[in-house]
Amino acid sequence: QISESVDNTKTEWTIYEAEKGTWPEGMVSIDSNHEGFTGSGFVNTANKLNAYFDMVVEADVSGAYTVKIYYANGSDSNRPIQLSVNESIQFTEIHCPSNSWKIWDFTTICLNLKKGSNTIRFASVDPQLGIKGLANIDKIAISNNVRSTIYSLDIKNAGLGTVLINPVKKKYATDEVVELKAVKS
Ligand code: GCU
Ligand code: CA
Repeated sequence: QISESVDNTKTEWTIYEAEKGTWPEGMVSIDSNHEGFTGSGFVNTANKLNAYFDMVVEADVSGAYTVKIYYANGSDSNRPIQLSVNESIQFTEIHCPSNSWKIWDFTTICLNLKKGSNTIRFASVDPQLGIKGLANIDKIAISNNVRSTIYSLDIKNAGLGTVLINPVKKKYATDEVVELKAVKS
């Protein structure tokens, strides 16, 4: 039996520290001079257009995920950030001033991820105010709850034998292929 449901499992957050990301040589420095961050430091991008870093994140099923981006912006101007997933632009948002480089705040957005590994790019875009570059970025947190339709599968054995399910998961995405194999036990 296949049931359609919303993912209302208890929300847990997977943390990805920004300093574990990747970037072209010289575009980012990992700093620790402004306290309040977690992990070993935070990403300070060069203050120019199209400065970026990438992070690889994992998703159980394809769908829309809630993502929190932890940042500090001690300047007095907005710092916009453009988010691309697997090279397609999904979202641009503003990191407002947080009043100090030591005051860490977060914004919450929604990103579509595919099942498996996804590369998220965090890039600076033109703020139209002359200030370029990202806010300092500490980490991101991704919810385990997918916000699109998911399916669960309930197998009842009748008589002898066993049904093997592949892949075995708690939640399946729309159009995901599941193999069922009846075997004698
Ligand atoms: C200051 C601050 C940095 C920050 C930079 C900026 O130099 O110490 O952490 O990245 O301003 O304006 O981007
Ligand atoms: Ca900077």
